[in-house]
Amino acid sequence: MRMYDIIAKKRDGKELSYEELKFFIDGYCKGTIPDYQASAMLMAMYLKGMSPKETADMTVLMANSGERIDLSPIKGIKVDKHSTGGVGDKVTLIVAPIVAACGVPVAKMSGRGLGHTGGTIDKLESIPGFRTSVSREEFISNVQQIGICIAGQTSNLAPADKKLYALRDVTATVNSIPLIASSIMSKKIASGANKIVLDVKTGSGAFMKTLDESIALSKTMVEIGKRAGIETVAVITDMDIPLGNTIGNALEVKEALNTLKGRGPRDLETISFEIAARMLELAGKGDMEHCREEVRNAVYDGSALKKFAAMVKRQGGESEVVNDENILGKAEFTRDIVSDKSGYIESIKTNLLGTASMVLGAGRETKDSDIDHLAGIVLHRKTGAKVEKGEVIATLHTNNEEKLKEAEALLRDAYVISNWRPDTRSLILAFVNSAGVRKYVDEI
Ligand code: URA
Repeated sequence: MRMYDIIAKKRDGKELSYEELKFFIDGYCKGTIPDYQASAMLMAMYLKGMSPKETADMTVLMANSGERIDLSPIKGIKVDKHSTGGVGDKVTLIVAPIVAACGVPVAKMSGRGLGHTGGTIDKLESIPGFRTSVSREEFISNVQQIGICIAGQTSNLAPADKKLYALRDVTATVNSIPLIASSIMSKKIASGANKIVLDVKTGSGAFMKTLDESIALSKTMVEIGKRAGIETVAVITDMDIPLGNTIGNALEVKEALNTLKGRGPRDLETISFEIAARMLELAGKGDMEHCREEVRNAVYDGSALKKFAAMVKRQGGESEVVNDENILGKAEFTRDIVSDKSGYIESIKTNLLGTASMVLGAGRETKDSDIDHLAGIVLHRKTGAKVEKGEVIATLHTNNEEKLKEAEALLRDAYVISNWRPDTRSLILAFVNSAGVRKYVDEI
């Protein structure tokens, strides 16, 4: 087999066989296929698309390129959750302890953030002492003992995807539905869960800007899951506005704790409870109505918060954080941003808020940048709110005073204030499973 012929076949729009895809993935991992041929291959895939079979084959080949975690020593159905990434997305911090408190084991590998979206692992590391790097044995044993562990992804999880994603990033081939779907699902399949709930974010702060694109991505991932024998469903949720009122690691942990105490912002609570209920449903805990009730009970009776504290303690962190948020600390510098006019917040360019938060130190510009766990933004007003001139709309937090000016400019650019009050958007936009698509709105 020659890589040249495989590239030419894809360039001409033909379907590649499993063996041809294996030759490409294995060869690229081993280094026998150079970057220039892999780049040409990715561009051919980007331009010509991939059939459902090719997409599923490529996913499984990438999942098998490294270690596949064996969760079978943990009793029960293991349901994983994945978000396609958004600004202020702290849903995992809320959902994981709720689901564990409802008796479904949560063995979750999460990533670090890059660019304008944050990672769960960075958020958890803002809790003093919390260890996200745990051995395989400890990971399994924690879930067996207390029903929950959230740890960083091992470096050997789907290494083919890691190498190809880095190449896609510099060859303008990221934004392809089959390539995104296979990249995400390869890591999920390698993480060992039996079932997966995907939170596919849609809007100005997300990868997918429209509902149609999100549905197409969801259908592709659901189909990959089906072919790999891992039941997968997708909840398509709004990311046109940051989720909740905080962006930045420690600030988001505080908000997640408040939500676990039943005092969270409505949008964050709605989306988190829905994802948690879907996870319980997939784990066989009953129909959605019953699962939603279970989720609410776990929050209102305090068992989800207790589960969060147990996880923090077990992973070496200060579990008292659930009662005293001051343990997380506070950034040295804050700046209130006041509105320069009266009107309504017509829209927010959410990706710019993500960038502002990154500039303040909460996110990474490159994968090796350090982050400031206390940096970020608190939003006092979001889309649809009425504001008066001089009113505080947001507060910036940072330990690097020099960054305030640039972040303020980005934030001012992000807020569009006019005399026009926008319609409220639905938070849960659609649901996709192997039976089909249920839309809750016509278009966004
Ligand atoms: N997230 C991933 O893991 N992969 C992609 O290709 C895009 C988003």
